[in-house]
Amino acid sequence: MESRTPSAGSQHDVEYWDIASKYWRDIATVNPHWAWNAFYSKKIPDREADILLLGVTDGSFLRLISEFRPRARVTGVDFSFKMIKNAQGVEKNMVCCRGDFLPFKNESFDIVLSDYFFSVIPEGVSGQTVEEIERVLRPKGVLLAKELRHRGHKVLWVLLSSFAGALFITTVFLVPSLAVFTSILFVLALLTYDPQKHRMGRSTAFCKFFLHLFRFAIKKKRLPTGKEARDLYYLSRKYLHIFTDEDMENLFSHTSLKTETDITPFTWNFSVVGVKQ
Ligand SMILES: C[S@@+](CC[C@H](N)C(=O)[O-])C[C@H]1O[C@@H](n2cnc3c(N)ncnc32)[C@H](O)[C@@H]1O
Repeated sequence: MESRTPSAGSQHDVEYWDIASKYWRDIATVNPHWAWNAFYSKKIPDREADILLLGVTDGSFLRLISEFRPRARVTGVDFSFKMIKNAQGVEKNMVCCRGDFLPFKNESFDIVLSDYFFSVIPEGVSGQTVEEIERVLRPKGVLLAKELRHRGHKVLWVLLSSFAGALFITTVFLVPSLAVFTSILFVLALLTYDPQKHRMGRSTAFCKFFLHLFRFAIKKKRLPTGKEARDLYYLSRKYLHIFTDEDMENLFSHTSLKTETDITPFTWNFSVVGVKQ
C-alpha cells in the first residue's frame, strides 16, 4: 500500500478545531495525565521507538511522552494548523494533515497513538484512518487507542437524572420557588440521552454549552464576551462519535491488526491495543 492523496478535506471540521484550539484548556473534557497514568505509560516501553501521535491539541500529551519516554522519536499530526502551532511549543516534529491521509512511508512507526481521535473524526473516514495506521506501522508495531464508548452514557444519564430529580423533589418541599429552576434541570437531564438510539439527545448541545460557559468563567475568572459565547455555542453543537462495543470490533475486523479491547470500570472509555501481524 502506498500513501494516498487527500481528496477535498472537510473545511467544517478544520474550522471547528481551529476555534476549539483557543478554548481547549478551558473546556477540554479529556485528561491526558489520567489517560497516561492509567494506560499509555504501561504500554509504551522506555526505549528508542518511532511514535506517531494522531491529534496533538495543545501539546500536553506530547509533553508527557517527552518527559517520561525521552528516547522516543515522536511525530504528531493534526489537520488544524492552530493545534499544530500550539504543539510546536513542545515538539518540533509536527505535520499538518488528516488522519486518513498520512504523508509517511509504509512501515515508518513502531507505535501509533490515538487518544480520543477516532471519537472526534467523522464516522465516514474511520475505516480509512485504520487502514492508514496499519500501513504506517512496522510489523509487530502497536496501535494504542483510548476512545469513548456508549455504555457510560447510560450511567451518566441515570446519575444525572437521579441527581436532578432528587434536587427537584427537595426544592419542592423546602424552597418551592427554586423548583422553577430545578424542574428545568430535571427535564434537561432526562433529555440528555436518547435511550432508543443510545445516542446523546438533542439537549446535549445546550448542556454542553452551559458546562462550557461555567468552565470558562471558573478558569478565566470572567464572563465570556459575546464573540466567545458564540464560539462556545458553536463548539457545543458538535457531537462526538461514541462507539458501541460492536462498532469498536468492526472497526478493526478487516485489518491485520490483532486487537484487544479493555473497558475501564466506572469510566466512559475503551482502551484498544492492536498489534500488526
Ligand atoms: C480530542 S483531541 C485529542 C486529544 C489529545 N490526545 C489530548 O490529550 O489533548 C482531537 C485532535 O484531533 C484533531 N483532529 C480532529 N479530526 C482530525 C482529522 N480528521 N485529521 C487530523 N486531525 C484531526 C483536532 O484538531 C484535535 O487537535
